[in-house]
This record gives sequence, C-alpha cells and structure tokens, in this order.
Amino acid sequence: MNTIKIDISGKSFLIKVCHNKKELAVIKKLDALVFSAHQGISDALLQAIFEQGGILVYKINNQIVGESQVLITSATGQKIENSTTALFYGTAVLPEFRGQHIGEALAMAQERVAVSNGKTRALLSVRPENAASICLRMKLGFTIISWQADYYGSGRLIMEKDLVAQTISNSTAPGKLVKTIILKIGDQPDEYARKQIAASFESKLQPVAYRIISPTEAVIAFSK
Ligand SMILES: CC(C)(COP(=O)(O)OP(=O)(O)OC[C@H]1O[C@@H](n2cnc3c(N)ncnc32)[C@H](O)[C@@H]1OP(=O)(O)O)[C@@H](O)C(=O)NCCC(=O)NCCS
Repeated sequence: MNTIKIDISGKSFLIKVCHNKKELAVIKKLDALVFSAHQGISDALLQAIFEQGGILVYKINNQIVGESQVLITSATGQKIENSTTALFYGTAVLPEFRGQHIGEALAMAQERVAVSNGKTRALLSVRPENAASICLRMKLGFTIISWQADYYGSGRLIMEKDLVAQTISNSTAPGKLVKTIILKIGDQPDEYARKQIAASFESKLQPVAYRIISPTEAVIAFSK
C-alpha cells in the first residue's frame, strides 16, 4: 500500500505512505510547527512509525502540506494493549492549506492503513480545546470515551472508533443531559473546564456530544 486514494465530495486525494527516510525531517518540522506546545512526537517514535509503514503524507507540488501517523505495534514506550487496536497520531495540515478536506483525507487514510493491518479499532488522544480535531474525528464516526488525566502532564480526551462497524458518532445526545461544560477553544488549556470534564468522567457520566457554539467556545455534554 503505497498510495491511498480518498474521495471526498467529488475530489480525489492521493495520500502517500512515506518510505523516504529523508522526508522524516520535513515531517518532524511540520509536527513541531503544530504540536510542539502540546508534546510533539519524539524522533524515536517517528522513526518506529516510519518503519511500520505508518507515516502518511499529502503533497501539493511535491511539497508535504499535511501528514498523519498510525502506530500499528507497541514502540518506544507507546504500548498497544490490544493487538487489534491502532493508535492514531499527529494529523497536521499546514495552516495555509486547511479547510480543503486534506486533514479529513489524511484521517481516512489512517483508517485504511489500520484496517489493512488487521485492526478493528482506532484510538487517539486529543486536547479538549482542540475543537477542529474533535469535530473532524466525530464527523468520521469517532466517539469520546474517556479522560486521560496525565498525558505528558496534561489531560486529554480519548476518542475511539470501531473500524468494522463504522458506527456514526452520537452527535445528538440521547436521554437527558445532566452536565454541559463550556470550553474555550484554542492552544491554552482551559483549566476550569478540564476540572469539570475530569469530574464528569469520575462520576461515570457518558460524553454524548461536542459542538462548537461560537468562534471561541465549544460545549461538551454528558448524560447518565
Ligand atoms: C485538525 C486539522 C488536521 C484539520 O485539517 P483540515 O484539512 O483543515 O480539515 P478538513 O478541511 O479536512 O476538515 C474536515 C472536517 O473537519 C471538521 N473541521 C476541520 N476544521 C474545523 C474547524 N476549524 N472548526 C470546526 N470543524 C472543523 C469539519 O467537520 C470538516 O468538515 P466540513 O468542512 O465538511 O465541515 C488542522 O486543523 C490542523 O492541522 N490542526 C493542528 C494540528 C492538530 O491539532 N491536529 C490534531 C491533533 S489530535
């Protein structure tokens, strides 16, 4: 699997599996540009994912403008508990190329790579303030399942997708909402919202919806 063709809204995206070691420096630079403030990927993990054939790139005029990563087997401290699970990392698109469905194509290509490696489930972690990423994954059928309190010193939401059932996420909350938490979107941690999110998971509430409600705010809703 060297090229993955993804069709979105009548447009085809050719996503390439990176086999050129020389491109790792460019990928690391892109990762650092968008993630460095939030625990960018280590050289060792990037190398391990490369060796597993899990680095995906999208190029325009031979320039890498977006990338994403799939960890297939445990490597450098990243443990995959269940052999049928893949961990998704680092979907990143250069700011000037966003909003053209490149991130979505890269995310869909991650799923194809996972399935072709026999995986039935995908897991990823995301900052709760990263509304673009959460909305992208929910569009593709991921659900928010839990809260990892200490992910390199900062909390993350864990999202999951069943790659076999291809279930569509609960964008409409069933049942009675018992807690809605307003979050500030952006690069800074919204500590007040994070405390409420952690407490909601501790109380065994179920996250049922995440929506952007203004240019600066999103809401995460929980039911019993
Ligand atoms: C997240 C990211 C990869 C999205 O890439 P992109 O190419 O701009 O996204 P797409 O154009 O493919 O968007 C696909 C869908 O994602 C959602 N989405 C993307 N950006 C969004 C935004 N700013 N606000 C709300 N939803 C958004 C929408 O549902 C969109 O579908 P639609 O256009 O039909 O509404 C990009 O914003 C990025 O690189 N961010 C920084 C890195 C990052 O945080 N990555 C995720 C780490 S877990």
